[in-house]
Amino acid sequence: MMTAPDLSVMERDDEAQADFDALIAAEQRIEPRDWMPDAYRKTLIRQISQHAHSEIIGMQPEGNWITRAPSLKRKAILMAKVQDEAGHGLYLYSAAQTLGITRDEMTQQLIDGKAKYSSIFNYPTPTWADMGAIGWLVDGAAICNQVPLCRASYGPYGRAMVRVCKEESFHQRQGFEILLTLMQGTPAQREMAQDAVNRWYWPSLMMFGPPDDASPNSAQSMAWKIKRFSNDELRQRFVGMLVPQAEILGVTLPDPELRWDQDAQRWHMSEIDWTEFFEVLAGRGPMNAVRLQNRRSAHDDGAWVREAAAAYADKHAFPRSLSEERSDETKRAQPTGVAS
Ligand SMILES: [Fe+2]
Ligand SMILES: [Fe+2]
Repeated sequence: MMTAPDLSVMERDDEAQADFDALIAAEQRIEPRDWMPDAYRKTLIRQISQHAHSEIIGMQPEGNWITRAPSLKRKAILMAKVQDEAGHGLYLYSAAQTLGITRDEMTQQLIDGKAKYSSIFNYPTPTWADMGAIGWLVDGAAICNQVPLCRASYGPYGRAMVRVCKEESFHQRQGFEILLTLMQGTPAQREMAQDAVNRWYWPSLMMFGPPDDASPNSAQSMAWKIKRFSNDELRQRFVGMLVPQAEILGVTLPDPELRWDQDAQRWHMSEIDWTEFFEVLAGRGPMNAVRLQNRRSAHDDGAWVREAAAAYADKHAFPRSLSEERSDETKRAQPTGVAS
C-alpha cells in the first residue's frame, strides 16, 4: 500500500491542473487563491518583479531633470510623471507579493544586482529633449507592451496594468508635446529634439525583446495567456504608431531602411544591434553602474523611514479597546496634563 498516497496526490494535482487549464481556455482569471503550476508562478514572479524594478529604476533618468526643467509648469508635470512611475512600481510589487515573494526579497535582489530591469533605463539623459524622447518613445513602447497585459491571465497583474496604462498614455502625450514645442522652436532646439530621437529610437525598439526566433520563453507565456502578442508583432505595431506621429513632429526616425512593405504587409527595417542589447542587459550599458549605485544609496538613506514605519505599524498592530482610548482622551482634556 506504499503507492496509495502518491497516487492520490497525483490525482489531485491532475485535477488541479485540469481546472487551471479550463480557466485559461475560458479566458477566466487565475487568482492568488487558485492552484497554479509552479512554472506559471515562477514566470509571473520574474516578469512582474522585473517590471516593478523597471518602474523604480526608470524614475532616475527623468528625476535627473526635475530641478532643471525649463519652467515651473514643466517641473510640475515632470515631477508628477516621475511620481506616477513610483506608483506603478508599488502596484506591481504588490501584485508580485500575491504570488508568495516578499517585498524585501525583491528589493534585495535588485540592490544585489541579481534582478533584471528594462535595459532602456541604462542610457543617459544629457539634454531636456531627452524628457520628450523618453515620454514619446519609451512610454510609447511601454503602452504597446502593456495594453495587451491588461488581459493577462493572472488577475492582480492584469488589474494593475489597467491603471498603469491610463497613466502611460498621459506620459506619452506629454513627451510628444515636449518634442513638438522644441520642433517649433529655434534651429538649436530642433536639432536637440532630433538628436534625442536618434539616441532613443533604437533602444526603444529593443524594449520588445529579442526577435521571435530567439525568444524561447515567449511561446509558453502565450500559451498561459500572460503574453498576447509576440515581440516582433508588438515591435511592428509600435513602429506603425510612430511613423505618422514622427511626420506631425517633423522628426526623422533614424532608419534609412524603414518603409512599409506592401507585399509582406509589415514594416521593413534595418537589423537591430542585438550585441548592444545583450551588452546593456549584461550590465555593461552606459549607466548600469550609476543606476544601481543610486538605488543602493536611496535604500540605505531610507533605512530610518522603514524603521519608523515598522515601529508605527507595530504600535498600531493590536488596537487598544475603545474604553482605554476614551480614558486617554479624557486625560488629555484635563488642563493639568498627565504626560510624563
Ligand atoms: Fe510606468
Ligand atoms: Fe511612464
